[in-house]
Amino acid sequence: MATNVSDLDTPALLVDLDRLEANLDRAAAYAKASGLRLRPHTKTHKSPLVASMQVARGAVGLTVAKVGEAQVMAGEGVPDLLVAYPVWGDVKWARLARIARAVPVTVALDSPDVAEGLAVHARRAGIVIRVLVEADLGMRRCGLPPGPALVDLARHVEALDGLRAQGIMFYPGHINPASSGGPGQLGKLRSDLERVLSDFGASGLCAEIVSGGSTPTLYHSHTIDGLTEIRPGTYVFNDRSQVAMEACKWEHCALSVVATVVSVSERGWFVVDAGSKTLSSDLQRPDQDGCFGHVVDVPGARLHMMNEEHGMVDMSGRMDLAPRIGERVHIIPNHVCATVNMHDVVHGVRGGTVEVSWKVAGRGRVQ
Ligand SMILES: Cc1ncc(COP(=O)(O)O)c(C=O)c1O
Repeated sequence: MATNVSDLDTPALLVDLDRLEANLDRAAAYAKASGLRLRPHTKTHKSPLVASMQVARGAVGLTVAKVGEAQVMAGEGVPDLLVAYPVWGDVKWARLARIARAVPVTVALDSPDVAEGLAVHARRAGIVIRVLVEADLGMRRCGLPPGPALVDLARHVEALDGLRAQGIMFYPGHINPASSGGPGQLGKLRSDLERVLSDFGASGLCAEIVSGGSTPTLYHSHTIDGLTEIRPGTYVFNDRSQVAMEACKWEHCALSVVATVVSVSERGWFVVDAGSKTLSSDLQRPDQDGCFGHVVDVPGARLHMMNEEHGMVDMSGRMDLAPRIGERVHIIPNHVCATVNMHDVVHGVRGGTVEVSWKVAGRGRVQ
């Protein structure tokens, strides 16, 4: 028998299925219309069920960060897995080679060290692992900046038996197109990528795949010449940070935490049963207003303080608007990926009814 949402115990993660499907449809239609391959990052949902919805809508493969996540996602019907992370060590290379026997695997890397280790294990397993060299186009995390070292790395990969160099990966996570600096950041990205592609062209290197993409830049992807595929992740659910970055509107936020009011203080706040172990303590990007989530149902409420299991919601003098003990509120997290990773189960809801519940199978798969 179908469960009513109000019968779920709290705190719990709810996904509005209409919103989720609309988010998936919109991105899939955009990628198709723009001639871009969509290889969504699964770090946000960590669920083979949501991944299958993405593949059903034309995703050419899935992206993961960790080998453990690749193991979870390597199910039937998954066309291809990209590990967008420099995988290091014999234990991980061996695990990855095992996965690559079942599902084609691509790895992004930025050093000969990782390439050589991976190649040894690919040869040992009698398989070929595809490789993208990671360029740092402003993110300042992994990757080599445009220039000769990046070209040398791609050459090195091409020369290694067991690997097949397929192109370039970069992550434009530093770019917020809606910010005042956004157009300049996008312009710099375009010219940096142009330089990388021209270097690759001049050296006869393969750039069959040029993989970029994030949620804030998602709908700007068609303006980046040379890009062949995009890897947005957060777009499936969205969150308060994406709203702050104008990457989406509140009505695109598909996931909320339903929490119960457990204490009300006449001194100006109420307390919900969702603290940092439920929501995560990530602050909002980029303006960091000090709140830990958006309380949807209570105008003016500010979730300004948390302990592990307590969320303190300041009412700024309007206690007449505060809910009572036992009432439920819905909170859109600051950073939905971190929130999902703290939960075993997500409930997919339509019209007040729990239509489907799924396991966050990739939860905690950090190795
Ligand atoms: C390498 C890589 N690709 C894609 C993404 C997805 O970006 P977003 O969370 O903005 O959708 C991430 C996010 O961390 C990432 O690290």
